[in-house]
Amino acid sequence: MSGNRIRIFDTTLRDGEQAPGCSMTPREKLRIAKALAELNVDVIEAGFPAASPGDFESVKAIADEDFGPVICGLARCNPEDIEKVHAAVKGAKRHRIHVFVATSQIHREYKLKMAKEEIIKSAVGAVTMARELCDDVEFSPEDASRTEHSYLAEVVSAAIEAGATTVNIPDTVGYTVPAEFDRLFRYLIEHVGGINDITLSVHCHDDLGMAVANSLAAVHAGARQVECTINGIGERAGNCSLEEIVMALKTRSEFFGLHTDIETTRLYPTSRLVSSVTGMHVPRNKAIVGENAFAHEAGIHQHGMLQHSSTYEIMRPQDVGISRSSLVLGKHSGRHAFRDRVRELGFDLDEFEINRAFQEFKKLADKKKDLYDGDIEAIIMHVDSSSPGPWVMKSLEVHSSTEHKARAKVVLVGENGEHVEERAEGDGPIAASFQALERVTGVDLTLKKFEVRSASMGGDAQGEVTVTVEHNGVSYRGHGTSVDTVEAGSRAYLEVINRVLRRQQRGEIAAADSAAATRATI
Ligand code: KIV
Ligand code: ZN
Repeated sequence: MSGNRIRIFDTTLRDGEQAPGCSMTPREKLRIAKALAELNVDVIEAGFPAASPGDFESVKAIADEDFGPVICGLARCNPEDIEKVHAAVKGAKRHRIHVFVATSQIHREYKLKMAKEEIIKSAVGAVTMARELCDDVEFSPEDASRTEHSYLAEVVSAAIEAGATTVNIPDTVGYTVPAEFDRLFRYLIEHVGGINDITLSVHCHDDLGMAVANSLAAVHAGARQVECTINGIGERAGNCSLEEIVMALKTRSEFFGLHTDIETTRLYPTSRLVSSVTGMHVPRNKAIVGENAFAHEAGIHQHGMLQHSSTYEIMRPQDVGISRSSLVLGKHSGRHAFRDRVRELGFDLDEFEINRAFQEFKKLADKKKDLYDGDIEAIIMHVDSSSPGPWVMKSLEVHSSTEHKARAKVVLVGENGEHVEERAEGDGPIAASFQALERVTGVDLTLKKFEVRSASMGGDAQGEVTVTVEHNGVSYRGHGTSVDTVEAGSRAYLEVINRVLRRQQRGEIAAADSAAATRATI
């Protein structure tokens, strides 16, 4: 299928989520799927339903919401996986089954221990079965870039004959280089019968830092779908970054003669959402969405910019949804001004969310004189994810000195309105606060990572804390924001505790031998 429109296939929720430390809760995945729909991606690969019952449920929840884009699920070439994908995605009006099997000699010999013919048979069987269930079937020969060209052409031809409507060529290990990948795509276009009747797709990993360049080479050669993730998150060094490929095609449209249907002003808010949810912070110098992407520091650049922005600026920050103004709102700003700013920042909140966000904004304005865009974004990121309980933090008091152990006192409010107070000591204020939270709630967590990031500017900037913790062998991540880092960390810790307790209440995990009943109620 040619034409000059490039379809954007987002795999943030599947390949992106496979990255260490990037797992997301079903609620977070739904939120990201909604944001991807607002970004106007063509396809959302929502997950790998056979991987776990949780994955299945998340894909199904996204498909059932039917936000608009095609909802896709990944399957190995076996009937169980394919049936699971179909059951999970069929709630969406437009859905896709994506089947894959490795084809390179290394994978054939060491991973699959299958002969070339067996792999073709398996691919054909899977595509045929998927086509019986669904009109939209994608086939991926995993590790295609390291597969013998003639054998790859054979596999791809067989998959197309069996009914694949999209064929995706992955550079699974991020090994190829642009000129070589360009050659591979041209070879396939020349040698595979029927390839012009399907959508040819590209899927690159960033191990050598060339995922975007290799994807551009593929589209230049004829691919018409790019698989990518927000902020380039994904296995190992990540996947092709969605915002980079989209802006490269847009900014250099005179060279490529191609376009996407992406609403580019949603790029920055979506990037912020994914970074906040996953705790994978975007490097300051990251193209398109990094903090410095549009900052001009050198005097000579600033001078040029003042004369004409095109001297040093090839894209406008507004085009990607960055409309940063320095000082935005303050203590006396009203609800309307707040709502307008939220809209300008590219967020689409419903009435309930706006009300909650505005309450948080007012609280923050009491503590912090100047409120920047980053502060508002931080509030919005957490207004939805802030858990509804069972425990809510009423107050936190910490004392620390170089001479003595740190001491913390927390007061939490429980589901029935009871106030429970606990004190604890620790090597530092954070350890003491976490210990006190564990005492009130009876949930013991093991802290694995504590990350802090500044949400905005100035000495009184809010700290965004992400904690990664383990509970009974399961890893959880929580987020908290405050002008006080200890409070932000404690909120993040409590968010996870609440999540664990809600899972216990739902019977998803065993309840702890909670000692909460013995605690003093004040
Ligand atoms: O990198 C890869 O090969 C994949 C396939 C499953 C498409 O993610
Ligand atoms: Zn991949």
